[in-house]
Amino acid sequence: MQVIRTIAEMQAQSRSWSRQGIAIGLVPTMGFLHEGHLSLVDIAKEKCGAVVASIFVNPMQFGPKEDFDNYPRDEARDLAMLEAHGTDVVFIPQTDEMYPKGFETRVELTRLPNHLCGLRREGHFRGVTTVVLKLLAAVQPDVAVFGDKDYQQILVIRRMVCDLNLSVEVIAGPTVREPDGLAMSSRNSYLSPEERRTAACVFQALQRARQMVNGGAVDPIMVRRSMTEAIEQNGAQVDYVAVVDPETLEELQIIKDRAHAAVAAFVGRTRLIDNLRLKG
Ligand code: PAJ
Repeated sequence: MQVIRTIAEMQAQSRSWSRQGIAIGLVPTMGFLHEGHLSLVDIAKEKCGAVVASIFVNPMQFGPKEDFDNYPRDEARDLAMLEAHGTDVVFIPQTDEMYPKGFETRVELTRLPNHLCGLRREGHFRGVTTVVLKLLAAVQPDVAVFGDKDYQQILVIRRMVCDLNLSVEVIAGPTVREPDGLAMSSRNSYLSPEERRTAACVFQALQRARQMVNGGAVDPIMVRRSMTEAIEQNGAQVDYVAVVDPETLEELQIIKDRAHAAVAAFVGRTRLIDNLRLKG
């Protein structure tokens, strides 16, 4: 496994693979890896002859009061995990090469970010789309793999790829969970043992929503109320609970053919997100 830290070297490696007719798969990450990230590497490995995982804690997608400075980092551990999963190249760009003096371009969607996390995290998706486009330009992959865990992020990236005619296939991998249902996340490392037990309520709330819809519930207000209860009874705080159209992310007035639930909750100071298809 090779570690590449400059954009020029990454582009040269990708050109060489392409000339040999080797398909390239990219798994973008912010590091502090877990089984969820590695499952995406496994998917890329199945589809492509060469797999690149990128590690870059992207300052542009963090708000001024968010956890950029404290975001967990452990490069040596990440490299060992990626090597064990057959990664060919780990691309670790440097912040001053990604955002040099004079950098002024932004990639911004006009509709999808006006929902869910986009409303709570001003500028977050602008940071995500800008960095993902830069990573795609640096790696030139045929396939890029992202996790369903960040459902809105997948929709935003698919939209950008379509709107900007990028020739990359975007694949979504299923959410990998802990035995109690908590979605794996680098941010779970912030939780104290007691908070970690509380955190299971996030997925329990989503499961409760799905049970209600399976049982015939059609009123999103009732479903949201029940999700809120499941979270607050356990001592976590709701940031949002939503029942939305799975494509536009608009809040549903009534649950008919297709519905998706999304939750963001604070467990102590840690903000956790999760989502689940309810119907369709
Ligand atoms: P990060 O949070 O490190 O996640 C990297 C990728 O792993 C994302 O596609 C995310 O959806 C996926 N992922 C996270 N937890 C997962 C889980 N439990 N199961 C399956 N997949 C999971 O998302 C980002 O980084 C950044 O926004 C990034 C796309 C790298 C741009 O900076």
